[in-house]
Amino acid sequence: MSSDQLIIFDTTLRDGEQSPGIALTPSEKLLIAQQLEKLKVDVIEAGFAASSPGDWKGVNLIANNIENSTIASLARCVQEDIEQAHEAIKVAKKSRIHVFTSTSDIHMEHMLRKTKEEVLRDAKESVRFAKKLCEDIEFSAQDATRTDHDFLIEILKVAVEEGATTINVPDTVGYATPSDYLELLKKVYSEVRGKNEDVIISTHCHNDLGLAVANSLTAINAGARQIEGAINGIGERAGNTSTEEIIMAVKTRQDQYGVEINAETTEISETSRLVSKLTGYPVQYNKAVVGRNAFSHESGIHQHGYLRNTMTYEIMTPDSVGQESKIVLGKHSGRAGFKDALEKLEFDIDEETFNISFEKFKKLADRKGEIVENELRAIIGQVEINEAPVKLVSVSVNSKDQYASAKITLSVNGENKTQEAEGDGMIHAAFKAVKEILQSEAVLIDYRVESITKGADATAEIVTIINDGHNLKQGRAVSTDVVQGSVESFLNALNR
Ligand code: KIV
Ligand code: ZN
Repeated sequence: MSSDQLIIFDTTLRDGEQSPGIALTPSEKLLIAQQLEKLKVDVIEAGFAASSPGDWKGVNLIANNIENSTIASLARCVQEDIEQAHEAIKVAKKSRIHVFTSTSDIHMEHMLRKTKEEVLRDAKESVRFAKKLCEDIEFSAQDATRTDHDFLIEILKVAVEEGATTINVPDTVGYATPSDYLELLKKVYSEVRGKNEDVIISTHCHNDLGLAVANSLTAINAGARQIEGAINGIGERAGNTSTEEIIMAVKTRQDQYGVEINAETTEISETSRLVSKLTGYPVQYNKAVVGRNAFSHESGIHQHGYLRNTMTYEIMTPDSVGQESKIVLGKHSGRAGFKDALEKLEFDIDEETFNISFEKFKKLADRKGEIVENELRAIIGQVEINEAPVKLVSVSVNSKDQYASAKITLSVNGENKTQEAEGDGMIHAAFKAVKEILQSEAVLIDYRVESITKGADATAEIVTIINDGHNLKQGRAVSTDVVQGSVESFLNALNR
């Protein structure tokens, strides 16, 4: 392996699965492992074989079915754990035993209840034992970032002497900052790895302070050549370094890190979707790289720039991670984004229709978050090219046990007129008030309300058909408010 190669070690199926509430079956684990192989991660930590019969089965199933990635199983510094790990992974084309123990004072005293000497002896004997079973051995010093530095160096040196090929320096509790982690890794690199090119220094960072990715990346500058992470950043507590963020940071900022990776970035989105689906852990909308908004543009200024040159607001292409760019139409969108959306829907409209439609779109967008395709179609369908003589100024309705009432103000050729009326229901009362203002004899023939989006803030399209004594006329309106939309639809028909 070249010294410029960064190994991507994915622990979605081990540390990631330790997230509260996640329990994957062996076959679900295999599905994720097969997708991780498509993503071309170098090492898949398939589980902790000795932790349960189910986990052993999952690790073994993966070891039997994966061709290219190395399959690792975690093991404590306990002979039985190491044997179980070996049994589960030995069929794999490439296998690794990942041995760990805690090295910080607080962990040794309260968890292991062992002295430094005992921990050192366990590490020595365990790595030696594991090395007899498997060539590829990783040793992790749990809670390394809160470990006495001299002791950390001593135990890592012992692991290397006994044959460990990867030395992992975990920030188990997400306590490190980029600057102190960089210093620690530099020390490990110079005092443990030295000139021994067979030894890889690895990072494994947790995200308690939101620094896991930053800490992992900074370690590359100290000579680390393996980064451990989990897809979507899942894992104990606030989770692990996100594998996908590391892959894209290293690809996008080659100038900073100068390391090569094998990952097939176009598989990132699919991997993220699968992990989210099988674990039941949603991906936050604005999550870097894989969030649904990671390549969405809403504000007018951003859309304008993006439509001229995508790189004005995108540092990676969405297809490079298997995503698509999206212009999201909302209240911050401008004419450029609106025009682009209409063009994509193949609307060929004149300037006047465009201007009226844009105004209607802005009004609707002010009331709800995102305007979707159906709503756009309905807006365009509703637009009247000529200035309507009658417009709705305001409507208020009241519903009591037996009857309903409505108070309507219309602008009729520029003059405001108000009328109150009662009816069987709010819509009936509102239509009566409109007819009284306009002294219209029109008869309502049909009235339909159809929801064109989902959810509590759904937009409705309201269609009315009237008979004005001569002809049938149809009116349409789109609104999140059914009463207001109904009156607008009725006026739309009367205005014809
Ligand atoms: O966070 C940690 O220290 C671990 C080790 C077992 C590598 O997950
Ligand atoms: Zn961990």
